[in-house]
Amino acid sequence: MSYAHCYNGKEKSELYAKHRPPYPDIVAEAIMNYLRSKKGDGKNGKLKKMLDVGCGGGQSIYIFTPYFESILGIDISDSQIEYANKHNSNKNVEFRIVRDNVFPVGDNSVDLIICASAVHWLDLATFETECHRVLKPGGYCAIYAYCPSFVRKINEPQSKRASIVEIEKQYHRNMGSQDLILDVFGQYDIIYDRLKSNTKERIEGLEFEVENTLIQYKNLFKTVAKYLEYLNLGLGEENAPIQALGSHVKRILDMNDLPDDEVKFILTYTYPTIMFRK
Ligand SMILES: C[S@@+](CC[C@H](N)C(=O)[O-])C[C@H]1O[C@@H](n2cnc3c(N)ncnc32)[C@H](O)[C@@H]1O
Repeated sequence: MSYAHCYNGKEKSELYAKHRPPYPDIVAEAIMNYLRSKKGDGKNGKLKKMLDVGCGGGQSIYIFTPYFESILGIDISDSQIEYANKHNSNKNVEFRIVRDNVFPVGDNSVDLIICASAVHWLDLATFETECHRVLKPGGYCAIYAYCPSFVRKINEPQSKRASIVEIEKQYHRNMGSQDLILDVFGQYDIIYDRLKSNTKERIEGLEFEVENTLIQYKNLFKTVAKYLEYLNLGLGEENAPIQALGSHVKRILDMNDLPDDEVKFILTYTYPTIMFRK
């Protein structure tokens, strides 16, 4: 099945860019350290070429610019690429629309492919075949996503953090999101099993904490692919499953009595990450 429509439309791309969090540098550092340790390379010198598949508005690309001479981001959505081009000031980064699942680069030409929060939208078998075609021998593919996983009160120690994964999965079920999105909340276990590569490995333990307001948190969940369609049904934002999600988080934090804009907490993102080599 093609999900060409999933992030198409100016309104969607702008909402997406406004409310999705940036990836922290630690994600690129962990992937590059993995790559270098496997290749036995020293730490100096840029690699030649990186490809970002399902690059959206460019959210996943810029943490990698210190490591590559040139980077190409590709996406099936006109509006995502339009946004990415409009906001790109980096001469070494280029964005291109793709109409099919064929990557617009030559055989054996890419050092690293990343696929950030996008692999669950793709035809995995075709994706893997294309990765093997375009990667240089010994080149790597990094599949990853972010998952808002735990919350705790600002003054509480990390040991007190509570998982929010199950309520987020329920939110996606209520919104009618596609099934494979739930795999992000299961550390990409299904994707991992389905990958044919016999070099696949995980980078474990990647996580990052940020202070969040409940408003920011709910806004993030307004960027799921089906949100605008849901509102267009005329059911009203106040009835959207997003309100239930917010109430659950408030209850977990024991902040039921506070208005949303006063609810502040520490949110931990985890980053399920899978690597495989050509
Ligand atoms: C959730 S967004 C991820 C965007 C960005 N990589 C990020 O990390 O925020 C998923 C992206 O995959 C794109 N996409 C879906 N199917 C695709 C396909 N067959 N080829 C390329 N991109 C695709 C969508 O248009 C969307 O921009």
